[in-house]
Amino acid sequence: MQRALAALGVAAVPFRLMDAIFDSGARHGIRVPGFGESLPEAVLVRAVSAGTFEAVTVRLGILHALRALGVTVWNDARAIECCVDKSMTSFLLGRAGIPTPATWTIQSADAARRIVEREIPQGPLVSKPLFGSQGRGLRLIHTVADVPAGDNVAGVFYLQRFVAAAPGRFQDLRILVTGGRVVAAMARHADQWITNIKQGGRPVAAIADAEVAGLALRAASVVGADFAGVDIIRDSAGRPWVIEVNSMPAWRGLQKVTAANVAAVIASDLVGALDARSRRKAAM
Ligand SMILES: Nc1ncnc2c1ncn2[C@@H]1O[C@H](COP(=O)(O)OP(=O)(O)O)[C@@H](O)[C@H]1O
Ligand SMILES: [Mg+2]
Repeated sequence: MQRALAALGVAAVPFRLMDAIFDSGARHGIRVPGFGESLPEAVLVRAVSAGTFEAVTVRLGILHALRALGVTVWNDARAIECCVDKSMTSFLLGRAGIPTPATWTIQSADAARRIVEREIPQGPLVSKPLFGSQGRGLRLIHTVADVPAGDNVAGVFYLQRFVAAAPGRFQDLRILVTGGRVVAAMARHADQWITNIKQGGRPVAAIADAEVAGLALRAASVVGADFAGVDIIRDSAGRPWVIEVNSMPAWRGLQKVTAANVAAVIASDLVGALDARSRRKAAM
C-alpha cells in the first residue's frame, strides 16, 4: 500500500491507531504519530486491533474525531462499526432487502437455545463471535447441545441459517469493492465449510457476474464503506447470499489470483477522492 501510494507521489506514514492520542493542548485536539501539530490528509485504516471496550472505543473515537476535523478516513469509523459488529451488518443488509441468511442476535443463552430448538428442523445454523474475523470461533449448530457457552461468545449469541453450497462442496466468493465498482473477485475453495484463507481456504480466480457484483456494491453501500471485501455464498440452487462485509479487508489471497493490482487501485481511488475534495474546497 505504501509503495502504491508512493507511485502516485503520496507519502504514507504508517502508525498504530492506539498510538494516536487525544490531547487538549494540541492544535487540533489530537496528535497523530509522525504529524506533529498537523494532521494527515487521509487515513486508510488497515486494522483496529482488539483491546478492552474502553481501548477500542478510544481508537474508534480517534477516527470519528479525524473525520470531524475534515480528514478523509477510509473506511469511516461508522462503516467500521457497522461491519465489525456482525449483528449491525445483518440488520442493515436485511433492511435493504439484500439477500442474507436469517440471523438472530441474542444475549440470553436460554433464548438462544429456544431459537435453535425452533429453527433446527429447517436445517443447521452457524454460531459466530459477534466481532469475529478470519473464520475464527465459528461453530455449526445441529442440536441445542451445540450452542456455545456464553463465555465463549462474550455473552452474545449470533446465530445464522447455514447456507449449503452443494453436498460436499465448500466454496464461497470474496468480492473486493472500491470506488463504487468491483475491482477483484475470487472463489475460496476449502475442505470444510469455513473457507477463509487463514483457515486453509484456497483462492481461485473468479469473475463476479452482474448479479453478484450488484449485490456486493449494494452491500458495501448500505454499511457506508468506501471499500470493502464482501463474502457471498451461492446455495445449492445457485442463489447468492451475502454473508459478511469486511471494512478492513486483507487481499493477500485475492492478489494471487487477480490481474488487477489491488493496492494500486485502492491508492488511486483514495487519491482521486482527495483530489475531488480539494477541487470542491477550491470552488467554495
Ligand atoms: N451462514 C453461513 N452458511 C454457510 N457458511 C457460512 C455461513 N457463515 C459463514 N460461513 C463460512 O464461514 C466463513 C467465515 O464466516 P464470516 O461470516 O465471513 O466470518 P469471518 O469474519 O470470520 O470471515 C465464510 O467465509 C463461510 O465460508
Ligand atoms: Mg468473512
